[in-house]
Amino acid sequence: MNNYISENKDRFLNELLDMLRIPSVSADPKFKQDVIRTAEFVKARLQEAGADKVELCETAGYPIVYGEKIIDPSLPTVLVYGHYDVQPADPYELWNSPPFEPVIKDGKIYARGACDDKGQMYMHVKAFEVMMQNNALPCNVKFMIEGEEEVGSENLGTFVKNNKDKLAADVILISDTGMLANDTPSITTGLRGMSYMEVEVTGPNRDLHSGLYGGAVANPINILCQMIASLHDENNHITIPGFYDNVTELSQEERAEMARAPFSLDKYKKALDLSDIHGEEGYTTMERTSIRPTLDVNGIWGGYTGEGAKTVIPSKAFAKISMRLVPNQTSAEITEKFTKHFESIAPASVKVLVKPHHGGEPVVTPTDSVAYQAASKAYEETFGVKPIPVRSGGSIPIVAMFKSELGLDSVLMGFGLDSDAIHSPNENFGVFNYMKGIETIPLFYKYYAEMSK
Ligand code: BES
Ligand code: MN
Ligand code: MN
Repeated sequence: MNNYISENKDRFLNELLDMLRIPSVSADPKFKQDVIRTAEFVKARLQEAGADKVELCETAGYPIVYGEKIIDPSLPTVLVYGHYDVQPADPYELWNSPPFEPVIKDGKIYARGACDDKGQMYMHVKAFEVMMQNNALPCNVKFMIEGEEEVGSENLGTFVKNNKDKLAADVILISDTGMLANDTPSITTGLRGMSYMEVEVTGPNRDLHSGLYGGAVANPINILCQMIASLHDENNHITIPGFYDNVTELSQEERAEMARAPFSLDKYKKALDLSDIHGEEGYTTMERTSIRPTLDVNGIWGGYTGEGAKTVIPSKAFAKISMRLVPNQTSAEITEKFTKHFESIAPASVKVLVKPHHGGEPVVTPTDSVAYQAASKAYEETFGVKPIPVRSGGSIPIVAMFKSELGLDSVLMGFGLDSDAIHSPNENFGVFNYMKGIETIPLFYKYYAEMSK
């Protein structure tokens, strides 16, 4: 198999670059035709690789690409999930090369989606081709590649609920996360959930002259800033009543185990040009970004932001606020607690409107399962060291639903690095990582089939 992989390396890369040229930004309707073209691209590549029953499953939003290869119903079935949509590329001016004109430089593929998730998803299509061409597919496989992950996967949730038979499988396999470093592989064993909110604060019924009215009328931007600032206390705990009620606290043993993963605070600060870090008192950086819930403003706007100065008290101010959730919080519970609290802290001088966006539930995956053990052996073989289990701070909303709706655990075989700059300008993915993924995935199938016997 490794011969086949090295002989076809250039083609494997070029096919990925072709997909990266299509700007499949799900958040922006301007790219609608491109998102659909990307679904068609994935469909065609799955067909070429040898999948059967390949189809675009229509949803209320973007289509889901489905395909399968059932070689023997008595063998275990792996359901591969990934996404072909990408985040918006803004701000374009901060990219060193255009986000949808991929280039390979210093061993890295630069483009929006290079890592998240086109590069990582496509490793699975190529790994499948490798197994097919070498008569080495040891299990049944189903592919489900969606186009709305970056906007909350709501239609995929409905699809999963309505297609339980079609999606029947033994395990879910996903590459949409990262690992610690190229010489320190890790397997993600947890994802945070999410409650995403938008708030609108209204003061006077029109923008006002800030000289004539300033000091006598509430400025909605000032008020919104005060309200947001009050959501954390001096120890950076979140002040929403009951916010931590259901949070599962880890035991000292579990925390000590986590602390064994290599981590350098110095390198962390250097990579981000920070003089100091910040976060909830009583927890380490690793804990703050994995086992603890958080609240962050993603955007805030209102008033005059154009050239020069305009003296105005704006009528309205807005913010987008997201909360990352951990077991046993639920997005419904947190959305309600946030809404109640935010409404209650608004002074009578303004009106406040809270609009919930998408949510998702947190998840922790087992490390004692056959599937985890198979993944661990696969990484050990290709990286030469045993991977470390690590809980991640990111979210993939569908993973908790795979468990609740299909009863299936996921194995999160990520090959990305923190330095890949996903969601940021100059997103990239190492050629090393792409090829390692294509090499490691078939070994997962091999060990999973062997160990399931
Ligand atoms: N692939 C990421 C999530 C991720 C990245 C998890 C790295 C762990 C490590 C995914 O595409 C993503 O960006 N998810 C969103 C959530 C979604 C509801 C917009 C996120 O985490 O912000
Ligand atoms: Mn992703
Ligand atoms: Mn993403």
